[in-house]
Amino acid sequence: MEVACFLLPVVLVLYWLNPAAAVGGGGGGDGQDQFVFSGFAGSNLTLDGTATVTASGLLELTNGSSQLKGHAFFPVPLHFRASPGGTVRSFSASFVFAILSTYPSLSCHGIAFAVTPSTDLTSALAAQYMGLANIDDNGNATNHFFAAEIDTMQNVEFQDINNNHVGVDINGLRSMEAHEAGYYDDRNGSFHGMNLISGEMMQAWVEYDSDVARINVTIAPIGMSKPVRPLVSAAYNLSDVLVEPSYAGFSSATGPINSRHYILGWSFAMNGPAPAIDIAKLPKLPRLGPKPRSKVLEILLPIATAAFIITLGILAVALVRRRMRYAELREDWEDEFGPHRFSYKDLFHATDGFKDNHLLGEGGFGRVYKGVLSTSKSEVAVKKVSHESRQGMKEFVAEVVSIGRIRHRNLVQLLGYCRRKGELLLVYDYMPNGSLDKYLSCKGETPMLDWAQRFRIVKGVASGLLYLHEKWDKVVIHRDIKASNVLLDKEMNGRLGDFGLARLHDHGTDPQTTHMVGTMGYLAPELVRTGKASPLTDVFAFGTFLLEVACGQRPIMEDPQGDQLLLVDWVLEHWHNGTLLETVDTRLQGNYNTDEACLVLRLGLLCSHPSANARPSMQQVMDYLDGDAPVPELASTHLSFNMLALLQNKGLDPYVAAYPPSSKMSFGTVSDISGGR
Ligand SMILES: *[C@@H]1O[C@H](CO)[C@@H](O)[C@H](O)[C@H]1NC(C)=O
Ligand SMILES: *[C@@H]1O[C@H](CO)[C@@H](O)[C@H](O)[C@H]1NC(C)=O
Ligand SMILES: *[C@@H]1O[C@H](CO)[C@@H](O)[C@H](O)[C@H]1NC(C)=O
Repeated sequence: MEVACFLLPVVLVLYWLNPAAAVGGGGGGDGQDQFVFSGFAGSNLTLDGTATVTASGLLELTNGSSQLKGHAFFPVPLHFRASPGGTVRSFSASFVFAILSTYPSLSCHGIAFAVTPSTDLTSALAAQYMGLANIDDNGNATNHFFAAEIDTMQNVEFQDINNNHVGVDINGLRSMEAHEAGYYDDRNGSFHGMNLISGEMMQAWVEYDSDVARINVTIAPIGMSKPVRPLVSAAYNLSDVLVEPSYAGFSSATGPINSRHYILGWSFAMNGPAPAIDIAKLPKLPRLGPKPRSKVLEILLPIATAAFIITLGILAVALVRRRMRYAELREDWEDEFGPHRFSYKDLFHATDGFKDNHLLGEGGFGRVYKGVLSTSKSEVAVKKVSHESRQGMKEFVAEVVSIGRIRHRNLVQLLGYCRRKGELLLVYDYMPNGSLDKYLSCKGETPMLDWAQRFRIVKGVASGLLYLHEKWDKVVIHRDIKASNVLLDKEMNGRLGDFGLARLHDHGTDPQTTHMVGTMGYLAPELVRTGKASPLTDVFAFGTFLLEVACGQRPIMEDPQGDQLLLVDWVLEHWHNGTLLETVDTRLQGNYNTDEACLVLRLGLLCSHPSANARPSMQQVMDYLDGDAPVPELASTHLSFNMLALLQNKGLDPYVAAYPPSSKMSFGTVSDISGGR
């Protein structure tokens, strides 16, 4: 329909050559009546409009701008009649053309090879009129032109058969004969279609046989000899059309779609076949926008697109993984704890992704990793504590933060925290010399501590615990005092770690059935009984710790018969027997201060008293250790207890419940055994 105006026909307007006026190629007896252009470099054509000869010798009829026309004529008129008033003679023309379209499936309007009475076609229109006629004169007998159109649009007003056809036009653009573009195979006569806007070079032949007054138009792909059967054959006596002389040349026009129309070679002969065009000498077509680009794009674009999409995908996955990797839990209420909040990413990088070679240890609360903060370059220990309950988390974090404000030379400094789903990370000062239990058990290459060191550590820990109990804003119960929770700094000072952490396990549970955590061998009897921690349950554990340091034994030890025995009971027995100093670590080989050793052992027993009321406060403990007050005499009746029996009376079998000695157990479990009956 109207869309059909997008066709770009190539109309070949044929002029009758006047033998006398022939220019170019060969010559003939009665003047030059034939010529051949294998490329147009150096030619002298009459050009107008957009028509131009490019540097490479292409005749470019239109240049890619829309709604324009261009003409190229042989510069001199040709004598199509042997004599003025005679009949139009036979002639033939051949040319190589190509149509380059911006869009692979759309082109616009036309080129024609035409024979016209004049080279002045200024009144002709572009677009579907192909620069040959206008809306008023189209079809008028006074036009006196003949054209072979190569049309890539279907214009219904001219009754075009399709948008890819070849037609014979007399005086107007409505073809008297037309055929879909293509050629008939010489071998079997089958028809092969050709796409005029493919951008390929094609050859056309336009022939007039005056004997029978017939016009034949034939096209074929470049390099193929002229097919025997013409594509379009029209009976018309051109003697009734052409004036004498007439011009031969090309006319082309564009519509709204940009196309380029090229003639690469052209030959013409009067009274005989057109001379052969030297295909090898034809200029190269430009690597114009659409075609060559689409070739590149056809291959590269999908690859590039796929690569791009894959890259995007990988990036997205990496981003999501990164987000997941560094994902944290953060709630509004945490804002006030901002300065104490570490980002998971920082901790992740500080510990090299929590690699195993950064693992310092694995305690009851979780794994501890060594890390170096990239910002401050300070060494930290990062404790990963798993927690599931969100309930009470706010209180706990508040407590952690407030604990973080506690500063004491015998407490391991808590620097801050980070929260993730199901995980709490606590960041502490790094203690280069590790935990005390290693030194006491003297395994591997760990050096043994001499008595002076032990005594200093004991006093340090007592001072730290005193601070927690009595010197800070509020009472902090440590709940898990033991040798493995005492860490040694650079100067081998004992520092208490992990304080307040046991509270973590309180949260999110019914306060009536508090889940307490402690370590077997350090548990005060009333703690076992009630599950309620107090400063005095800390003192009890501290007592066991004192004995542990002095004796170099685990709180649950083996006697020479291989039976298991509580350290307290063992020391107490020696005390009853008056052989207290025999319990001092034999590895010291007697190199210790007897008074101090006695003090520590007796204080250990006093602190480990089964009756909470009989235990000293930490302030008193400090006074005793500093020598400011004498340790009260232990009355034998006062101390006629057997801790093991006591615990067993409570229904707790430490041998079953307490191994390995460092393992922790939830007090809920203990309650299940002892309570509920
Ligand atoms: C081109 O042809 C025209 C017409 O014959 C002539 O006047 C002009 O001199 C020619 N120019 C060249 C460069 O040959
Ligand atoms: C085509 O030619 C016309 C006139 O000759 C000119 O105005 C236009 O800019 C040209 N277009 C291109 C794309 O070269
Ligand atoms: C073509 O027309 C001319 C003049 O009208 C006439 O002399 C000639 O015989 C015609 N040719 C044919 C083949 O009919």
